[in-house]
Amino acid sequence: MKLWSGRFSKNTNKLLDDFNSSISFDQRLYKQDILGSIAHATMLGKQNIISKDDSVLISNTLKDILNDIETGNVQFNVQSEDIHMNIEKILIDRIGNIGKKLHTARSRNDQIALDMRMYVKEEIVNIDKLLKTLQKTLLTLAKANTITIMPGYTHLQRAQPITFAHHLLAYFEMFKRDRDRLSDTLKRTDILPLGSGALASTTYPIDRGFVAESLNFSAISINSLDAVSDRDFCIELINTLSLIMMHLSRFSEEIVLWCSYEFKFIELDDAYSTGSSIMPQKKNPDIAELVRGKTGRVYGDLLGLLTTLKGLPLAYNKDMQEDKEATFDAIDTVKMCLPIFTDMITTMKVNKKSMYKAASNGFLNATDAADYLVKKGLAFRDAHEIIGKLVLYCINNNLELKDLSLEEYQSISNVFEDDIFTIISLEECVNKRNIVGGPAIKTIEQTIESCEDYCSNS
Ligand code: ARG
Repeated sequence: MKLWSGRFSKNTNKLLDDFNSSISFDQRLYKQDILGSIAHATMLGKQNIISKDDSVLISNTLKDILNDIETGNVQFNVQSEDIHMNIEKILIDRIGNIGKKLHTARSRNDQIALDMRMYVKEEIVNIDKLLKTLQKTLLTLAKANTITIMPGYTHLQRAQPITFAHHLLAYFEMFKRDRDRLSDTLKRTDILPLGSGALASTTYPIDRGFVAESLNFSAISINSLDAVSDRDFCIELINTLSLIMMHLSRFSEEIVLWCSYEFKFIELDDAYSTGSSIMPQKKNPDIAELVRGKTGRVYGDLLGLLTTLKGLPLAYNKDMQEDKEATFDAIDTVKMCLPIFTDMITTMKVNKKSMYKAASNGFLNATDAADYLVKKGLAFRDAHEIIGKLVLYCINNNLELKDLSLEEYQSISNVFEDDIFTIISLEECVNKRNIVGGPAIKTIEQTIESCEDYCSNS
């Protein structure tokens, strides 16, 4: 018999039970649901809305149920629709009429809003930890590569020399913003909706502050309609998760490129690569590709939930049950991708020689050669033109700027002197860029230090 069967004269259709039920996916909320119910029952007892004895019996039985679920001794049932009614039904089966008092001054609408907020709060902390581990890995790698010169690209064309540390620390910044966004989302998730009832709060003298404190919420919601129909916190979380995936995906794309035969900047560890069923020579970057691929499903979760909510009138509508799979899938995906990605980059080999070689070809020092002329008094546009001509000369003769003789330089502009050769060395190009934000070794060492401080304080 359904907990709401009173006004019905027929049983529900079997198809409806399957269609309507969310227990297959919301059972993961059992802990939040039970802890929320214990706080609620305790408050009902404290406020004399139910007797102290009843309140204690309900709480103790709920604790037993929690334990039984965790030891695999509870069977959930589609008939009971969702996690809330499954647990309430088990409670009533165990303690009869007293169990029927738990749902006083509460609705599943504020109950599910509570469960989701508790769940999201926990997962934000978990995902933040994973991001921090990834950031620490980036710092370890960066420390080992402060002088590893590699080509920096724009349009995927070799542009200017940078260091591998500088490149890695770009991702550190992205994940730092992601962590900021998580903690910002946490602020708006950390609001207790319980007490909003179905939509219009309740007539019972409940103590919402007490429940908030017991469940470790910093604030209580101030509009019952909003509180039961708000899923902004899920959307904000999936939005942040989408950005995390976007960052991982861009990084993955670089990993895929870097371990190709064409680049050979890195080699993935055998434990984090896969082979081909037909081509014996293959070593494929499947992890990076899958992370890149899974980014799409997290974007899908975001778009799906935004679309689900866009036309809903206040307050609760059953459409909102669809928030769960989207939110859970996005969380699960990110929680799967972050550790494996971190392990993959921890174990990869950095091919410093290939990086240096790639940075040595393709005129990455051309901007510095132009800047040299500017420092000797030329206007930048004229300097640009002169170096452009030299580059063309080099291309036609299969040379690099460093291969030209001083005479060849001077044949184009007599401003050139012997010091041009120091200026265009890759080390000089990198280390001259010593302003905040630049790749110079000293700058990067300072950046690494402040990043380490950030990691120990956050
Ligand atoms: N399973 C429902 C959900 O996830 C719980 C709330 C149901 N409320 C209702 N009035 N039917 O949204």
